[in-house]
Amino acid sequence: MVFPEYRPRRMRQNETIRSMIRETHLSPDQLVYPLFVLPGKGQREEVSSMPGVFRFSIDQLQQEAKECLTLGIRSVILFGLPEKKDAIGSGAYARNGIIQKAIKELKNKVPELNVITDVCLCEYTDHGHCGCLQNNEVDNDATLELLAKTALSHAEAGADMVAPSDMMDGRISEIRSALDENSYHMTPIMSYAVKYASAFYGPFRDAADCSPQFGDRRSYQMDPANSREALREATLDVEEGADVLMVKPAVAYLDIIRQLRDEFDLPIAAYHVSGEYAMIKAAAEKGWIDEERVMAETLLSIRRAGADIILTYFAKDMAKLLAK
Ligand code: PBG
Repeated sequence: MVFPEYRPRRMRQNETIRSMIRETHLSPDQLVYPLFVLPGKGQREEVSSMPGVFRFSIDQLQQEAKECLTLGIRSVILFGLPEKKDAIGSGAYARNGIIQKAIKELKNKVPELNVITDVCLCEYTDHGHCGCLQNNEVDNDATLELLAKTALSHAEAGADMVAPSDMMDGRISEIRSALDENSYHMTPIMSYAVKYASAFYGPFRDAADCSPQFGDRRSYQMDPANSREALREATLDVEEGADVLMVKPAVAYLDIIRQLRDEFDLPIAAYHVSGEYAMIKAAAEKGWIDEERVMAETLLSIRRAGADIILTYFAKDMAKLLAK
């Protein structure tokens, strides 16, 4: 049937019909809110390149977590800024490290919150790379043990899920074994399976103080030009025991999210990263775009591409909009 018998506009003529046939929906259940944790007390610092995003000292986390729950956001992902950094990122796996303490505080005060932790060394190394070095190169195999120790220390502190973001080869199986050998066989791994060497992480590196002090991350994060390699990375992580596959960034990689959705049956997560957030905020501040509508359209596009879960700095704003 074609025009004039068939008229697509018939099904767009009012909001009742439009909402009846709407294919994709957003819900606070699908959103994960990133939280940055600082040393000290009474700290609540706004990140200058990410308006509306704060770095909290541990005593301030509880309030923020409760606000998330009130809005229906039940999952957060934690990033830590340690007191001291060193060459091997020992703050990442210290029993009493900043994240370990933050997890305990959150699980103690807000037990119903799903606490996910970012597992990486870059916030804890003085050189800012995601692993330990050998002759100024990131030493993959030596880093694996440190990542496994980090993930295990998070689980021991009470983390509900761990999310390795370092992009070392073989880290999912190393982390899975370390968790299983210590009776954390029920702790899921959300793998940053397909993480690109992206310029969109700029504002995050301000927030988490983790820019590499020399070179860049291109010897471990993926080349933005590659999509077949994304499938290969995801296949490896599935074989090694990942429970969720993540694509990062999100909007510039919607095609990759779709390919993973079509190829794998695991849940797919997408990280709508700091630069993607900052661009919308900046244009909205200038009055050039409608922030609320651009936010909703962007997050919807990530869902439509095939993501089940979205990690986003807009989680709270989106949940508020959905509740209107
Ligand atoms: C740690 C990590 C980064 C992000 C999440 N985990 C930074 C990086 O890889 O450089 C970026 C998140 C964002 O930009 O919002 N490796």
